[in-house]
Amino acid sequence: DPTPEEAQFGAIIAADGRIEPRDWMPDAYRRTLVRQISQHAHSEIIGMQPEANWITRAPSLKRKAILMAKVQDEAGHGLYLYSAAQTLGTTRDDMMNALIAGKARYSSIFNYPTPTWADMGAIGWLVDGAAICNQVPLCRASYGPYGRAMVRICKEESFHQRQGFEILLELMRGTPAQQRMAQDAVDRWYWPSLQMFGPPDDQSPNSAQSMEWNIKRFTNDELRQRFVGMLVPQAEVLGVTLPDPELRFDEASGRYVMSEIDWTEFNEVLAGRGPMNAERLKRRRDAHEDGAWVREAAAAYATKRAAERRA
Ligand code: 3HC
Repeated sequence: DPTPEEAQFGAIIAADGRIEPRDWMPDAYRRTLVRQISQHAHSEIIGMQPEANWITRAPSLKRKAILMAKVQDEAGHGLYLYSAAQTLGTTRDDMMNALIAGKARYSSIFNYPTPTWADMGAIGWLVDGAAICNQVPLCRASYGPYGRAMVRICKEESFHQRQGFEILLELMRGTPAQQRMAQDAVDRWYWPSLQMFGPPDDQSPNSAQSMEWNIKRFTNDELRQRFVGMLVPQAEVLGVTLPDPELRFDEASGRYVMSEIDWTEFNEVLAGRGPMNAERLKRRRDAHEDGAWVREAAAAYATKRAAERRA
């Protein structure tokens, strides 16, 4: 028989209610949330690097200001999510140190380089577009702090996606060289953005339990389909071609038929052998070390102030 706490937890989940930090929860529920929320936070922080690469080289002051605002938003998303994870008992240091030691996952998508300005458009349109598809359902996650963090993050993601679309639209209305640059960026970012949603449903060990606990509301493949359905009409407006010759909508099944995704590459990236993983972690490590003096000064100041208050 379930204990009173297990019965209470089960009743809240069955009623599609919210679990709050002080509520009893199964250890496995706590563990999978720390896993997912900390990885989500790491993704946001590492995700600042590919775009920061173009802040000093943006083609206009307007583009520079927009890109700075977007990178700053990603930092904020990371901090909301680290704070949400901390309500489950993990510490900021534990999460930071795991990432720096290469022991924590972050989204595969940030393992790719950003060689041209058009990458800023492709990231906004494809990566933030995929993030929106994945994150809107997370606003209804059963764990309160996570769902509430998502509401604010999704509002900012829609600005991120629109500014990316607009960068590509401007390039596609430009010279042939600009059009080629935009198409090249879409070709490089399309397949990795589909992999952001995770492995196929029949190779997703966490999905079933996450869905039973109302953390995950749709399966990886369902959200991937929804994302492609969003991209197809927008690609037509942009005048870019999605790099999948097999891609077509199958009326009978109501689904998009697409080429096989390269899961070997995905697994290589998850094993830490992605194209940019070493550089991303080194950059994170250097930033953490360069910032040590700020953390020490803040801690010393807080200690001094606490002593003054006691005196
Ligand atoms: N990158 C890295 N690891 C991934 C991954 C990806 N794209 N997709 C799946 N994985 C990992 C999972 O973490 C899991 O490994 P673990 O058990 O060691 O954690 C394993 O692959 C199997 O995948 P599952 O489908 O079983 O795992 P989940 O149920 O956790 O589903 C997920 C994966 C859909 C990514 C889910 O964790 C999720 O929704 N996470 C929150 C969203 C998120 O992290 N988004 C990051 C996008 S980047 C971003 O938001 C920045 C944007 O603002 C630009």
